[in-house]
Amino acid sequence: MRAALLADLGIPDRDVLWIPAGEDPEAATAELAPAQNAGGDAGCLVLAFDRERPEPELARWREALWPTWHAIASCRLRDGELSRRTLQGRAVLGKVEGSGGQWVVFRQRLDVMSQRSTVAKFDQNAKGWDGDPNSPSYPHHRWMRRYVGCYAAATPGARILDFGSGAGWCGIEAARAANARELCAFDPSPQMVELARRNAEAHGIAHFRGEPGFGEAPPFPKPGEAPFELVISSGVISFVPEVEPWLDGLAACVAPGGRLIIGDIDARAYGFARRRRSKLLLPVRELNAKTPLEVRGWLERRGFRFERGSGYQLTWPVPQAMEYSERKLGGVLQRPLLWANQLGAALDKSLGGRASHAFDSWVMTLVRG
Ligand SMILES: C[S@@+](CC[C@H](N)C(=O)[O-])C[C@H]1O[C@@H](n2cnc3c(N)ncnc32)[C@H](O)[C@@H]1O
Repeated sequence: MRAALLADLGIPDRDVLWIPAGEDPEAATAELAPAQNAGGDAGCLVLAFDRERPEPELARWREALWPTWHAIASCRLRDGELSRRTLQGRAVLGKVEGSGGQWVVFRQRLDVMSQRSTVAKFDQNAKGWDGDPNSPSYPHHRWMRRYVGCYAAATPGARILDFGSGAGWCGIEAARAANARELCAFDPSPQMVELARRNAEAHGIAHFRGEPGFGEAPPFPKPGEAPFELVISSGVISFVPEVEPWLDGLAACVAPGGRLIIGDIDARAYGFARRRRSKLLLPVRELNAKTPLEVRGWLERRGFRFERGSGYQLTWPVPQAMEYSERKLGGVLQRPLLWANQLGAALDKSLGGRASHAFDSWVMTLVRG
């Protein structure tokens, strides 16, 4: 049974910690103690339930094990058939003897978020993050990048760095708006860097340099080069396993008096909190997301002065409606939903971010002292 549960999950060949789960996650301190203490010893933890449990209850077990462990799969035995659900969907694993049950498979958060996993994940889905110009949601994808990239008016002719650039869109939008002297971009995924290079070229950015690298040891500025007048980091901090070294890397790239635009998904957003209560399996990024207040505090302690911040991308049910419209309605609702997002973001910006909890994402600008 154990081998069948874990087949093809790419679990490292180390000890699997197997814990029979009781009735109440909040009272399970003794049961969960071996998991909390496992440190780097066990590559995989399986919580074994004697029967299937409702999703909100499984979500509470996940919370009890976060941030050491991250749930990656849920298996069930029903009518002799063993199946496994991951974020990619459900797969039948085969026929197995037994009366029923449910098993939740966890991996160490630091393993799921390791540099190796990050490169593999983004290399594999680089095209998806680039956006498909033929998809009805493409205007929304581009609007979000433009909104973040142009959140602060950049000094004309500035040198700009896109820090965790993905396919490069935020930096490209900023560079075009400022008629930048140079745009540099880096990302852990070489595939992403290649897309950024192509996108920059296609959008007439004459001076572009792109390289693979991580924010914890950024490949720009090169030795002897000045730091940047504008640095943009969009949608990256939620992917970072330990924020302190990453923030040190980020801060070092901004010139004294230069500006930082940083944004990401919001751990406080109603839609994310709702998903967190009701679903077991979530992308690790959603659980690892930070609040804008936390990020602002960390940056202020590094000598930055907060300028302004607000929310964008309305929370539940707008993203869900967009997905439904795209999947089932041929995208007919995409335009009105984009307008709702644009109007909401503009309103919150004019209110100084007072309604930002109504949005899935935040963005802010800070100036380096
Ligand atoms: C959600 S994508 C955002 C890409 C782009 N900034 C945008 O807004 O379209 C997150 C990106 O962060 C990158 N990333 C993950 N961990 C990173 C790290 N430690 N330092 C820099 N970039 C990282 C990923 O490779 C990925 O391309």
